Amino acid sequence: MSLLVEGLDLERNDGTTLLAPMDFVLRPGDRLGLAGESGSGKSLLVQALFGVLPPGVRQAGGSVRAFGVPMDRPHPERDRIRGRRLAWVPQDPLQALNPFLRVRDHLALLPGVHLGESRAHALTRLGPLLERLRLPRDRDFLRRHPHELSGGQRQRLLLAVALSCDPELLILDEPTTALDPTVQAEFLSLVLELQAERALGFLWISHDLGVVASVTERLMILYGGQLLEAGPTGSVLQKPRHPYTRRLLSAARREAAAESGHLPAPGDRPEGCPFRGRCPEERPSCARWGPWKGEPMDGLRCEALD
Ligand SMILES: Nc1ncnc2c1ncn2[C@@H]1O[C@H](COP(=O)(O)OP(=O)(O)OP(=O)(O)O)[C@@H](O)[C@H]1O
Ligand SMILES: [Mg+2]
Repeated sequence: MSLLVEGLDLERNDGTTLLAPMDFVLRPGDRLGLAGESGSGKSLLVQALFGVLPPGVRQAGGSVRAFGVPMDRPHPERDRIRGRRLAWVPQDPLQALNPFLRVRDHLALLPGVHLGESRAHALTRLGPLLERLRLPRDRDFLRRHPHELSGGQRQRLLLAVALSCDPELLILDEPTTALDPTVQAEFLSLVLELQAERALGFLWISHDLGVVASVTERLMILYGGQLLEAGPTGSVLQKPRHPYTRRLLSAARREAAAESGHLPAPGDRPEGCPFRGRCPEERPSCARWGPWKGEPMDGLRCEALD
């Protein structure tokens, strides 16, 4: 009854590593977070979870299973899981929404495919959800196209679409990036309310550590395609183990300037810990550091700290 990611390893077609082997579990009721800066591999991970990697990227190893069904290769049951039991709020609403479909058609799409519901039936059933999401339910709004919605409405429409078949697990890829702070706070509390009511398990992904930390109970830190640290959110925040996490935290608390330097491109990443070269605590053993492995909540293996 869960999403199980074991040793998932992504690379470019030329063999350049994009995501070093990664393991985690997401169960209904879980509030799991993934924080990482732009380019660290967050969206590729999500695409791999649904078996929709873009051209030029391939899975070099490992597996992704949801409810016992492989997501990373064709399987007769896969289409019955994706969008129904395992749902997705993609990163970019304008790209994710079809410009030629009206709000009502977006909302009725997955219920039609998965539940065999008519549009009218789906819209009636989804009425209370739309209300909760503060999306208008009048005829004029339901007839609009994505370009006629505000950024916040588009983001909430994507959430409504993702929740339209009452999934057990939900992956949210930067769901609040396009929202202003007030709307963002509203969105966070709404997702938390729905999560608690439906025992929904979610993986919340963002470059914003503050946002992820505020909604999760477990937290993973991704940098340069490697999981550096994972654990209960409170422990990671109070006792960050990896120097990169400490840097992220002080930047989030504005004790330090935002990241100095930048994340190296996949082909230019150092051997061992990907934070080498930017890390104030670097030691020779960091060159041999491997990606974090094992049960995600045990802590991490940064040899620089041993
Ligand atoms: N189709 C592709 N072919 C080759 N490399 C790719 C492809 N898509 C992404 N990448 C590379 O993989 C790395 C991770 O990209 P990804 O989109 O997963 O980052 P991200 O963490 O989601 O960033 P952001 O916060 O900006 O959304 C980047 O270096 C990117 O250039
Ligand atoms: Mg992304």
